[in-house]
Amino acid sequence: MRNITIIGAGYVGLVTGVGLAEFGNKVICVDIDKDKISQLKSGLIPIYEPGLEEIIKRNVKSERLYFSDDISLSIQKSQVIIIAVGTPQTSEGDANMEYVNSVVRAINKNLKDYKIICTKSTVPIGTGGRIIKTLSNDFEEGIDFDYVSNPEFLREGSAVKDFLWPDRIIIGTTSDKAYEIMCDIYKPLYINKNPIKHTTVETAEMIKYASNSFLALKISYINEIANLCETVGADIHDVASAMGQDGRISDKFLHPGPGFGGSCFPKDLESLIAISKEKNIPMETLSAAKKANINQKAKMGTKLENLINASLKGKKIAVLGLSFKANTDDVRESSSIDMIEFILSKGGIVSAYDPIANVSMLKLFKNISYFDNVYDAIKGADALVVMTEWNEFRALDLPRIKNIMKNAFILDTRNIINMSELSKLGFVYDNIGRIKI
Ligand code: UDX
Ligand code: UDX
Repeated sequence: MRNITIIGAGYVGLVTGVGLAEFGNKVICVDIDKDKISQLKSGLIPIYEPGLEEIIKRNVKSERLYFSDDISLSIQKSQVIIIAVGTPQTSEGDANMEYVNSVVRAINKNLKDYKIICTKSTVPIGTGGRIIKTLSNDFEEGIDFDYVSNPEFLREGSAVKDFLWPDRIIIGTTSDKAYEIMCDIYKPLYINKNPIKHTTVETAEMIKYASNSFLALKISYINEIANLCETVGADIHDVASAMGQDGRISDKFLHPGPGFGGSCFPKDLESLIAISKEKNIPMETLSAAKKANINQKAKMGTKLENLINASLKGKKIAVLGLSFKANTDDVRESSSIDMIEFILSKGGIVSAYDPIANVSMLKLFKNISYFDNVYDAIKGADALVVMTEWNEFRALDLPRIKNIMKNAFILDTRNIINMSELSKLGFVYDNIGRIKI
């Protein structure tokens, strides 16, 4: 059992803190956002993440999990300090390090005894080396610390599961002492098989970027294959499932869609491209993945226009799904943003519905209508666009929708609505890479 302080109680920091408490450590989750901390202290969960509320309650009750907005005191109380603050994309495309740097300064001021400084946030390759140099330069004699890169591989919407049952834990450090302590905090994970991999700091940083950008590349690849399928009469559903039977390919991340979003793929891809340019090493695959994703998002708008085969001006379009993927309230880089912008740019009217992300999207678009019931959003619509793969959109009452829509156009960007039902009911529909029935 170790004393751990996590700085940054966002989608990553909160799940990491709770997970480490679940593993028997004593954890303080710190955040600069006082409202967020007071919500957490009063038992409210500021983000939507399946299973998070119950595991937070359990660990608070067992006095392993605490929340604080006092970063100095929380650093002094713990031996392991984990940095999980945001590293959002700058306008130039690389990672904005201001939050990480401000946390490093706070740690520097509060190092009175040996500490492990561990970066969980996704940071540009080489950041660890720079942090070590900063801390060592400012250091009082005799005070000792070690640095660890421990990147996260949590998917939003399944982050609790991904944390408690990880495919791998990467511990990047040159210090055996720090490695031992980090293994200790993940102890319950290697009672049976050992998912822990010991690497250098730079290797750990690269593993994160290489993994995420590969997943982004894989999605852009299947999206382009799906687009080609539409022109050659092939069905992406069968293509992807047959591809996935090859163990070297695997069937994961082969679902075509409206383009990937989220706080990670676009940012991590951009950051790796920026690093490759800085090092003058061409990464054509990543630039292609980025461009293909931009194209895919734009293609959805064109698909909608072609579907209704008329101008969108004055047309009411129901947009179902606002978050960047199902099971999250996060709209960062969501393809729904591009779709809404496109419809508004053509003079269309948007009625939006998402099971939980309406509030998040309202911060970006105040000039569209939001509904708490999917059928209210669809009523009187000229067309309906499915943007995320929420389960409730897989079970829409199509006969009811046919009766309440003004015109029966459906664009399914996630291939989750049964085509034979759509054609039986007389809908005019489109999706991604499917052979129409
Ligand atoms: C972020 C990055 O997006 C991800 O790439 C990285 O791996 C981990 O950090 P996420 O948790 O989604 O992931 O970020 P966000 O939801 O923005 O949470 C960051 C939290 O840090 C926010 O709650 C913010 O208030 C807090 N923060 C930010 C601090 O506590 N101190 C700061 O100085 C800045
Ligand atoms: C991702 C990585 O999966 C995770 O390992 C990393 O730590 C953080 O970034 P996340 O962005 O939360 O996780 O969600 P993910 O499930 O990877 O989806 C990312 C985007 O790709 C979403 O917009 C999703 O809709 C899209 N996607 C995913 C597809 O379009 N097709 C797929 O087959 C899978």
